Amino acid sequence: MIDRIAELRSEAEAAIAGAPGSAELEELRVRYLGRKAELPNVLRGIAQLPPQERGPTGKAANQARQALEALIAQRAEQLQAGELEERLRTDTVDVTLPGAPPQPVGRHHLLTATRREIEDIFLGLGFRIAEGPEVETVYYNFDALNHSPTHPSRDRLDTFYVGDDTVLRTHTSPMQPRAMEAEPPPLYIIIPGRVYRRDSDATHTPQFHQIEGLAVDEDITLADLKGTLLAFARAIFGPDREVRLRPHFFPFTEPSVEVDVSCFMEHVAGRRCRVCKDSNWVEILGAGMVDPNVFGYVREHGYDAERIQGFAFGMGIERIAMLKHEVPDLRLLYDNDVRFLEQFG
Ligand code: DAH
Repeated sequence: MIDRIAELRSEAEAAIAGAPGSAELEELRVRYLGRKAELPNVLRGIAQLPPQERGPTGKAANQARQALEALIAQRAEQLQAGELEERLRTDTVDVTLPGAPPQPVGRHHLLTATRREIEDIFLGLGFRIAEGPEVETVYYNFDALNHSPTHPSRDRLDTFYVGDDTVLRTHTSPMQPRAMEAEPPPLYIIIPGRVYRRDSDATHTPQFHQIEGLAVDEDITLADLKGTLLAFARAIFGPDREVRLRPHFFPFTEPSVEVDVSCFMEHVAGRRCRVCKDSNWVEILGAGMVDPNVFGYVREHGYDAERIQGFAFGMGIERIAMLKHEVPDLRLLYDNDVRFLEQFG
């Protein structure tokens, strides 16, 4: 029996020393020391042995079991350390790699981008940005802008009335008298914002965007207006642009003009230009010298038409965006099809 114990012990010792991993080591533990294994059985059967064999056999079996347990514990530690090292080596993370895949980022809507571009140009020329209410009184929208009591745009078919004396502003111009009431000259402001008209077809939406400009100072002339708009046209449509002023009528400016910019498209012989229809000029905005009657409404705020002059202009942001980016249909600006929007901003 003692020989058998020695045999089992050396067989187990060799196997444990050669166990390649923790899982295999656990299998060996079960095979040599588990409940059904031979060595523990020997220990349990000691009492059945002849009395003189019990002592030496029990001692040898106990020693073998303890030796194997110690060996297994030692081997387990070795294996675990090795396995940890292996995992640390193969699981290394390259912290310089990008994290989660980059998400697609949004961009400014073409109208927002265009508004900001226009704002930047005028900020560079010394104008400030002012904003005003979209729900406006008839007084600021029409009366204080020198519209006659019978002016057609006052009609309920053209303008959204919120009440008898209240409208959705039809242009950004009402901020002219509001801004002049708020502070004395000199005044150099632009007013971006939404405006509303009862119009809806391929080239009109009931809500659109304008940017108004107002400059009031001593010695302001039509030449200042033209120079300012030339700088603007060159900044937004290219350095070679020219502008021309054509006489027009607006109730709140005198004289009034419509402003054209020279065509910025490449012209090919024999093919009609879609932007200027071969006229070489593209209308971009309305403008003029502030009518003394308008100053009359804000006279007590420091605007004496004998002492100061001013110019004003108003442009549609949609129109500028469509001209500059050759957008063929106004509705593209509002459909919010990302395939369209992705091209800008
Ligand atoms: N308010 C005008 C419109 O909506 C545009 C305009 C024309 C604004 C001439 C001005 C101006 O300030 O001087 O049609």
